[in-house]
Amino acid sequence: MVVASQQPRREIRNAPHFRVMLGSTTLRSGSRAGQRVEFAIDAAGSLNGHLILAGSSGSGKSHQLRRIVRELGRAGVRVHLIDPHGDLHVDPDITDTRVFSEATQAGLNPLEVAADPDHGGPRRAAMTFVSLMLRQATLGEKQRSALLRLLLDLYARYGFEAGNVRSWSLDFDPRDWARAPKRQPVLADLRRDVYQKLVQLKIGVPGSAARVLEDVCKLSKKLSALKVRNLRGDDVEVALDAAKRKFVETIGEAVNRVETGAEIEELIAWDSFDVVKGLYDRLETLEGSGLFKGQAPEFAATRPVWRYDISAISRNEQQFFVECLLGKLFAEAKARGEARGPDTAIVLDEASAFVDKHDEHILNILFREARKFGVMVILASQEIMTFPEAIVSSAASKMILGVDDMYHASLERRLALPKGKLKFIRPTRTALVQTRRRASDELELSAFFEVDIVG
Ligand SMILES: Nc1ncnc2c1ncn2[C@@H]1O[C@H](COP(=O)(O)OP(=O)(O)O)[C@@H](O)[C@H]1O
Ligand SMILES: [Mg+2]
Repeated sequence: MVVASQQPRREIRNAPHFRVMLGSTTLRSGSRAGQRVEFAIDAAGSLNGHLILAGSSGSGKSHQLRRIVRELGRAGVRVHLIDPHGDLHVDPDITDTRVFSEATQAGLNPLEVAADPDHGGPRRAAMTFVSLMLRQATLGEKQRSALLRLLLDLYARYGFEAGNVRSWSLDFDPRDWARAPKRQPVLADLRRDVYQKLVQLKIGVPGSAARVLEDVCKLSKKLSALKVRNLRGDDVEVALDAAKRKFVETIGEAVNRVETGAEIEELIAWDSFDVVKGLYDRLETLEGSGLFKGQAPEFAATRPVWRYDISAISRNEQQFFVECLLGKLFAEAKARGEARGPDTAIVLDEASAFVDKHDEHILNILFREARKFGVMVILASQEIMTFPEAIVSSAASKMILGVDDMYHASLERRLALPKGKLKFIRPTRTALVQTRRRASDELELSAFFEVDIVG
């Protein structure tokens, strides 16, 4: 008898049909010379749905993005429109806009654990967070692994255990001692843990005692505030005495627990107070920005275009926010499973501020892996020379609007264009377009063509 060892395969879902025109031209050579042909991104024929839109300031990138987003939305694609300038207004009847600022109630949770057995779990969440922090604060190899351990401890304390897949969802809590219902940890929780490390490094007490010492300090403050106002605080005094006793006890217990000396090594991994302080400050700033409180924004499901207006926040916070958001969108796409074509589009204007050459950067991952899960990515930028090669080569479609003369030579080299090809672009009238096709009889259309653009 054969026993099926495979998990049941999830069904591959269908995707909407769409055809977003980029432009058209009359072919001058090849087997179709004289024919008028259209260049489009379409669900069926394009190698993938990814598009790179390049052009100097004022060349019409935002104009094209608005048109493309409108067409995708009308065709039933869920569009996540990330708007760093706040100028991507698309028809209000299909668009729901959320403005993100310090005053916003909704935000993202960069520490969220995904429940997906293949792609979720606390270890992956911790690694993603560490790589996010690497762009925000300087961390050496040792501090990186120390932060990773700190995060895994935090997750375990909140009931998410790396080795226990069932615990990756909120529905199952392995902590029979837990007093409150299970929840995802947020930045404030991590900041508190890092604070305790700081105390530990500064005054050399173990983490458990650092927590109690915090209570001692709080109660002392409270008591002296009462005394200043000539008030009695008997109950505070009792609590303070208890906390002091607890502190001494905890230190005693910690000393008794020292067996292997690993406790000291753990502290040494953090070695520099300044580095941990830098990490702490960064976490505090992120928390103070109000964007990462952990309450996901709720968009109207009936509107196909969800616009994230992030023009009110600083560049640093925009980067953290976008990376967090892209990570979340990718995790959600993977959890939905595979699709026959794109039903989700992620659109990012001013993209050169968000790319990174590191292989594991979320944008590179998206360009590499998102297609299978029904996600297409559209990036617009003035400066695609800074885009990683992997992104440029994997995007099936490219649209080059007017580019400044000084960039012609380098861009032509980068895109393997014939010399002088960029000179002929007439801003807002023509563009160079490439749409790589799947069908073999259309391969000759996969090169760059100068086309008349739409709208
Ligand atoms: N194809 C077009 N037809 C008409 N006007 C256009 C076209 N493309 C761009 N424009 C206009 O040119 C100006 C600059 O376009 P914009 O999309 O903001 O450029 P970018 O985003 O590349 O800086 C805008 O006023 C826009 O309306
Ligand atoms: Mg623009």
